[in-house]
Amino acid sequence: MSITAIKGMNDILPGEVETWQFLETKAREVFGCFGFSEIRTPAVEKTELFCRSIGETTDIVEKEMYTFADKSDNSLTLRPEGTAPVMRAYIQNKLHALDPVSKLYYMGPMFRYERPQKGRYRQFHQIGAEVIGVEEPKIDAQVLAMLHRYFCQIGIDAVSLQVNSLGCPECRPAYRQQLIAYLDERLASLCAECQRRYQTNPLRALDCKVEGCRQATSDAPAMIDHLCAACDEHFGQVKTHLQALQIPFEINARMVRGLDYYVRTTFELVTDQLGAQNAVAAGGRYDGLVESLGGPALPGIGFAIGVERLVLMLGTDSVSPQGPDLFVAALGDAASDQAFVLMSQLQNSGIRAEMDYQGKSLKAQMRRANKLRARFALILGEDELQSGRAQLKNMADSSQQEVVLETLAAEFARLQI
Ligand code: HAM
Repeated sequence: MSITAIKGMNDILPGEVETWQFLETKAREVFGCFGFSEIRTPAVEKTELFCRSIGETTDIVEKEMYTFADKSDNSLTLRPEGTAPVMRAYIQNKLHALDPVSKLYYMGPMFRYERPQKGRYRQFHQIGAEVIGVEEPKIDAQVLAMLHRYFCQIGIDAVSLQVNSLGCPECRPAYRQQLIAYLDERLASLCAECQRRYQTNPLRALDCKVEGCRQATSDAPAMIDHLCAACDEHFGQVKTHLQALQIPFEINARMVRGLDYYVRTTFELVTDQLGAQNAVAAGGRYDGLVESLGGPALPGIGFAIGVERLVLMLGTDSVSPQGPDLFVAALGDAASDQAFVLMSQLQNSGIRAEMDYQGKSLKAQMRRANKLRARFALILGEDELQSGRAQLKNMADSSQQEVVLETLAAEFARLQI
């Protein structure tokens, strides 16, 4: 039996990859305008990094990590997300000493052992961005403005931005106690999972998808009604700045996020086009994270976009693969040898040139030129070799013009303009 890919891990094939390249190129363009630089971190980290940052009682750490021992018995984990690795790299490389404000972006595969379904995979890709060093609410709005701009640039508008504030270590503990007491009274109506973790991670009950939990928590106390004065002020300013930048948003007081490092502003970009997997991007503030990982006490905020979900929304035929500029068709062995050299010269001049290597008939070669969606075709036979001239055929309108083979690269560059 032939070997297949691992469940929940997908190949990205020619024909689809153009959409991926489009999304990546646009991210580089947009994030560059907002002053972000790319950072690349390894796909594998020490397990402890994720336990300490994402949180021991989260779904990711409890059940979804690809953790294994290497040959020296170190516990390693395939990164389930990008924020913790970027913070680890930031601290380790002392990036704070270079600049008090770091704006970083990344793109690449992440791994979570989740139950695969449409929009949810075990290897998936994120495009993410992080700002470290700014506490002011203006940066929250700026990060959301960048996300908004990116979605405008890639042509996806069927998304809505939901924001919330999760408070801080000052105000959250009291709220948490209040929520535990509230859940305690309704324990029988909660699902087994929420019953199990209502003491350790009560906030998760608020975004549990089980209907019984939704009903039982419909009038649960909300964090935004229990913010301390500083968090309330911060959240108020984030909203004001978003309005000033004309970024549409709605408040979702039940949004809790599945990672423990968040404080204050949290957000999700949601769509109704993807069924259950409705978040296409998500993020928030993580002011204590850098310090908790052994770095300086610096605030941070960022987001990650799920690339597979963008591709599902756009469709893979939204960006067509680019065909060759020129297909060189040859009649006979001598012409084929000449076509081979000519093709090579054209490729070296930056022209996308292609030919048939298998001595096929002219008809078959022209069929292939069509299939590859070549813009032009050139037929080389005995006469053309003798005269050093050939007819260049425009495949779109079948018009022809004579070209000199020796100066074809220059001629072609001129024609393209
Ligand atoms: P997250 O909400 O876990 O946050 O993931 C962000 C996005 O990644 C999700 O909204 C979704 O689009 C995509 N995603 C997550 N899991 C899967 C999956 N199994 N299959 C396909 N797509 C998935 C984070 O990862 C945070 N690090 C975001 C962040 C950055 N917060 C601050 N900075």
